[in-house]
Amino acid sequence: DWNAEHIIDELIADVQAQVGNGKVLLAISGGVDSSTLGLLLARAVGEQLTAVFIDHGLLRLGEREQVEAALKPLGVNLITVDARAEFMGALDGVSDPEQKRKIIGREFIRAFEREARGLGHFDFLAQGTLYPDVIESAGGAHGDKSGAANIKSHHNVGGLPDDLNFKLVEPFRTLFKDEVREIARLLGLPEHIRMRHPFPGPGLAIRCLGAISEEKMDILRRVDDIFISGLREFGLYDGCSQALAILTPIQSVGVMGDERTYSYTAALRAVTTDDFMTAEWARLPYDFLATMSNRIVNQVHEINRVVYDITGKPPATIEWE
Ligand code: XMP
Repeated sequence: DWNAEHIIDELIADVQAQVGNGKVLLAISGGVDSSTLGLLLARAVGEQLTAVFIDHGLLRLGEREQVEAALKPLGVNLITVDARAEFMGALDGVSDPEQKRKIIGREFIRAFEREARGLGHFDFLAQGTLYPDVIESAGGAHGDKSGAANIKSHHNVGGLPDDLNFKLVEPFRTLFKDEVREIARLLGLPEHIRMRHPFPGPGLAIRCLGAISEEKMDILRRVDDIFISGLREFGLYDGCSQALAILTPIQSVGVMGDERTYSYTAALRAVTTDDFMTAEWARLPYDFLATMSNRIVNQVHEINRVVYDITGKPPATIEWE
C-alpha cells in the first residue's frame, strides 16, 4: 500500500543523509516535477537549497508570477533570472524548429551556468528525474553522466560543463508522475500547477511558427490564456492531456464592423493520450469552441480567424513545430 505521507518522510530523510551540510542547486521549470522537488528540498534542507527559475520570455501569461507565488511562501529560496532579452536576441530571425530548440537549449544552459557561478559553490544539483526517465535513459544509446539529464531532455542540449562538478540529488527516481502529484498535494503545491498539462522546455517559441518576435509572443500569450482559462472555466481542462494555441504566419482577410481586416490565424489544439507517443484530437464541444473563437477574435485584435486542429498523432505531432 502506497502511503504518500510516509514516502515524504522517507524522501526527506534520504535527502538529508545524502546532502549533509552541502549546498543544493535546482532548476525550476514551473512544471509539477521541479516545483514539487523544490518544496520537498525546502523541507529537507531549507536554506541550503537555491532554486533558480529562468524566465526566457517564452512562458505563458502570468506563469512567472504563479510559480513565485506558489513556491516562495512555502519556504523555497527561489531566484528568478530575467533572461528574456538574451533569448529574444539569440532567436532573432531564426525560423527552423530544430534550430530554435538548439538555441533555446544553449541559452538556457548559458543562463543557468552563469547564475550558478555567480551564486558561489554548490555541491549538488537536484533534478526531478522520474522512474520512467530512468528506464528510458538506461535503455537509450546515450547513458547520461553529464549531471544534467532533465535539463538535457527538457531542453534538447548537452548539459552543464564538467567543471561545475555537481553530485546529483534525484529523490523521485523511483516514482511515477501520479505519485509525484500526490506528494505535491501533501506539500501544498497549488492545484493549477499540480494538475497542469505538460509544457515543453522551448515554451511558446515552438508554438509561434517561423521566426518569433516579442510582438508575436505577446499575441500568442493572450490567445493561449483565453483558451486555457476557458478550458478550466468550462470544466474541460482535466479531460484533455494537453491543450495549446498556435500562432500561424498566415494572414487572411476578414471583416470587423465596417472595416476589412488582414490579420493572423490562430490554431487551437487539444489532445487526449496516455503516453504522448500517439494522440487523438479532443472532441471539444462545438459551443465551447464557438465561445473560444469569439473571445479570441474580440479580445486579441491581431487575430481575425481561429481554426481547430482535427489531426491525430500520427500523422501529425502534438506541437506544430
Ligand atoms: P510532439 O509534438 O512530438 O510532442 O507530438 C510530444 C510531447 O513532447 C512535448 N515536446 C517537447 N518537450 N522539449 C520538451 O521539453 C521539446 O523540445 C519538445 N517538443 C515536444 C510536447 O509538448 C508533447 O507533450
